[in-house]
Amino acid sequence: MEKSARSGANVDKDNMQLIETTGAEWWDPSGIQMALHSMNPLRIRFVIDGLVNTGVIKAEDRNKPDVFKGLNILDVGCGAGVLTEALARLEGNVIGLDPSEELVKIARDHLKGQSLNVEYITEFIEDYSIKNADKYDVVIASEVLEHIPDQKSFLIEMTKCVKPNGSLFITTPNRTIVSWFTTKIVEFLKLLQKDSHVWSLYITPSEVEEILKEQNFETVLVRGMWYTPFINIFSFIPYHGIHYALQAVKQDRKKQK
Ligand SMILES: C[S@@+](CC[C@H](N)C(=O)[O-])C[C@H]1O[C@@H](n2cnc3c(N)ncnc32)[C@H](O)[C@@H]1O
Repeated sequence: MEKSARSGANVDKDNMQLIETTGAEWWDPSGIQMALHSMNPLRIRFVIDGLVNTGVIKAEDRNKPDVFKGLNILDVGCGAGVLTEALARLEGNVIGLDPSEELVKIARDHLKGQSLNVEYITEFIEDYSIKNADKYDVVIASEVLEHIPDQKSFLIEMTKCVKPNGSLFITTPNRTIVSWFTTKIVEFLKLLQKDSHVWSLYITPSEVEEILKEQNFETVLVRGMWYTPFINIFSFIPYHGIHYALQAVKQDRKKQK
């Protein structure tokens, strides 16, 4: 049986508390979380491209302002909602899930006065997945895996929430010598909160792919990501060794029979 952590066993509490200290700055696009804000256009594009490739979104609809209409989306480790709101602005039905009460409060406060289809839930994925199996067209964990002690267990819990033929999306740093250096550089430039990223916790795309394959997922897309400081822009690059985005699709067991 796969190991499964319930009620907070799979969390690095010190890391979570450290991230919470930047609470007030989460919604400042030029604050310490500025890279998350500038990552939004690229990660949204990755999700749209992935859903077009798998036929969930029609190619001619990709630039529509309601491109996610009718899709149920789970944003795991949503933090203060920087990506969650962007997904909902394109009309997805979005659940933002995070165990940090402090960050979820910031997310809820920021949502006030906006008519976005978002619900925030303060819970661990390990608890949420029990009640929400096979529910979502899209489950995404963006910039979360690198903060999780047991990534295999975390990924398995996420996979449970994805519908057959639905997609799981990840963005995270790779674990290579190059990413060790780039982490040090971005920390030095104060573009990353000091000590919030531990290189040994980074996971490679092939490790993610292997875990997901065991859960009957096919990895269909991996793209390298690059951050250009000073102009504060993320772009796709062919090299996956620093940062990457990955999409995997849940295979329909019924169809396989
Ligand atoms: C760097 S933040 C990512 C923020 C957000 N995804 C974004 O891109 O704006 C990492 C988040 O993962 C959350 N997290 C840690 N352990 C978790 C778990 N077991 N289940 C769900 N979220 C978790 C933390 O509370 C934190 O908010």
